[in-house]
Parts: sequence; structure tokens; C-alpha cells
Amino acid sequence: MLIKSPRGWERPLSQSTPESLFRNRRSLVKALAAGPILAAAPFALSGCDDAPKVAAKPPEPDPSAHLYPVSRNERYTLDRPITPAVLATSYNNYYEFGSSKSVVREAQALPLRPWMVSIDGLVEKPIEIGVDELLQKMPLEERLYRHRCVEAWSMDVPWSGFALKALVDMAKPLSGARYLQMASFQNPKVAPGQKSSWYPWPYVEGVTLAEATNELAFIATGAYGKPLPKQNGAPLRLTLPWKYGFKSAKGLVRFTFTDTRPVSFWERIQGREYGFWANVNPEVSHPRWSQASERVLGRDGGKVPTRLYNGYGEYVAHLYKDMKDERLFM
Ligand code: MTE
Repeated sequence: MLIKSPRGWERPLSQSTPESLFRNRRSLVKALAAGPILAAAPFALSGCDDAPKVAAKPPEPDPSAHLYPVSRNERYTLDRPITPAVLATSYNNYYEFGSSKSVVREAQALPLRPWMVSIDGLVEKPIEIGVDELLQKMPLEERLYRHRCVEAWSMDVPWSGFALKALVDMAKPLSGARYLQMASFQNPKVAPGQKSSWYPWPYVEGVTLAEATNELAFIATGAYGKPLPKQNGAPLRLTLPWKYGFKSAKGLVRFTFTDTRPVSFWERIQGREYGFWANVNPEVSHPRWSQASERVLGRDGGKVPTRLYNGYGEYVAHLYKDMKDERLFM
């Protein structure tokens, strides 16, 4: 890969130009997909500059606002300070709205209601449910989780939401179901990134059923005691704190139980760099950079060491003990 510009994490946040980082992924996409077509159709997204942007108008009232704050589950604690909300909600990856970190304004175009969710595939009975009804049925709580992006930055967020297991239990999967695939919304009218047809939209992620029912697997519906901001994945966003952040798909509309391993969005684009398992491991480098340490958003100074399974080994290491042949950390 041609990487001439310094990567985003090599600079302070205030000076970061994450576009350059993502140009790497974009050039990957270009290199891997049909070359001549891509060469003729350079990536063009609206408003991808590096300056933090502020929503042009106040957000519309969220009908779930009365549900928050929810009580904190003290089982999930942090050993470092919570990331200031202003950082966690303004430094985002959401390719549907652009390839820079500054997508706050663009993401406000996503309509959150009505928001229908499908639960289908290998289940007793497929379910089609509005997000507000789903929120009524699910046991909401707050959890403090670390988030480690594959790009070697991290943050620490108080998410509100519910255990993914609660949704799995509601879905009643059939005995043949081995995986859960989750798909993000698709609406190129509001999401300019989705006009770029060489990305395999919609954004899809998948986990095994054992992972989906692990106690850590969480669907975030809020953050910092409020409904989830659109740029962070409202109204439903997967949160798998022991995996690299790209597994945490945002804007979910569909949960499909299947007997076939799903191929995730980034895996489809470049499986050698972004695999299915994507468990955090400081000893397994990304092909183009080390994963040994991370830049914590909002913390001045050097990086901190990255931890195996992002520090959640006691909860999840057993899931992988018999998988010696799998690329568990990529
Ligand atoms: N989900 C969708 N639908 N689209 C995306 O581009 N980016 C992923 C993940 N979920 C992404 C997504 C990546 S790479 C990361 S690191 C996290 O979202 C970033 O979450 P944040 O913006 O809340 O920090």
C-alpha cells in the first residue's frame, strides 16, 4: 500500500486529518475493486474537511428521550476516565455519511422515525417491530465500555442500551442458527456515502451465536445519559467492546439468524486486513501498522498499551479456546 502521509494517530486530535487515514482505506477499495471504473469515478463525498462541524439546527426531539438516563450496571467499570462527550460524539466513523471523522452535520439527515427493525432468518417466527416498541420490551441499562478502533485510537463511553442476548431470546432462533448478521440502514437519499456503489452497502456485521449471547454484547440506544446521537449510530448500534470498533455496526435495521458465516462490510472490501473475528490483540499487527498501543481520545501525551481482548479476556477468551486455525485477531 502507498502510505505517504502521516497517519491520524501520529498527530494531536486538534490537528488530525483523518481523511488521510481513510484515504488509505479508500485507495484499498480502489485498488481492489474494478480499477478502471473507480479510476474514472473518484470518491466524492460532501463536506469532508477536517474542521469539527456543529449541527446546523437543533436535533429534532427524540421520542425515546424520556427513557434516559437509565441506571448503571456497575459490573462493567473502567480503569480510566470517561471520554468527554464532546469528543466521543464529534470524532466518528460513519462511512454512510462521509469518510472523514467529521460527519456530525451530515448524519443529522438520517430520519429516526419511523424506524422498523426486522428479526428474521432461522427464527421461530420473523418479527417486524418499531424501535420504540422494541425499547419498551428490552431491559435498558447503562454500561461503561472501552472502545478500541482498528485505527489505534480508543475511547471510554457510558452507553445505554440492552444486552444483545435479550433480543436473541425474544427472536427464538431455531436450532440450526449459528450466526447473527446485523445490517445497517440503506438510504442513499440521506446518506451520501451510499451513493458510492463500490462499497458493498448496506454495512453488515456478524457474530456467532455464542458471541451474540455473551454478556458483553450490547445494543447501544443511548450514550452519556441521553438517546444515542445520530453520528454514533442511533437508534440502534452494536457494541462489542472486545473487538475492533468496525464490528460495532450503527443504524441497525435488520437482525438475521443464519447457519452461514456472514461476510462483514470491511471483510468484503479487504478481508486480509479486516477479518470476521477482529478481536483486539496488541501482538497481532494490522498489515500496515502496529496494534501494540492506542491513542486515547482526549488524553494528552503518549499512547497507552493495548490489551488483549481490549481488557475483556475474562469474559470472552473461552469463546475462542478451540479455534486455533482461525484468524481471531485480524
Ligand atoms: N457502522 C456503520 N454503519 N458505518 C460505519 O462506517 N464505522 C465503524 C463502526 N460502525 C461504521 C459503523 C467504525 S470503523 C468504528 S471505529 C465505529 O463505528 C466508530 O464509532 P463512533 O463513531 O461512535 O466512534
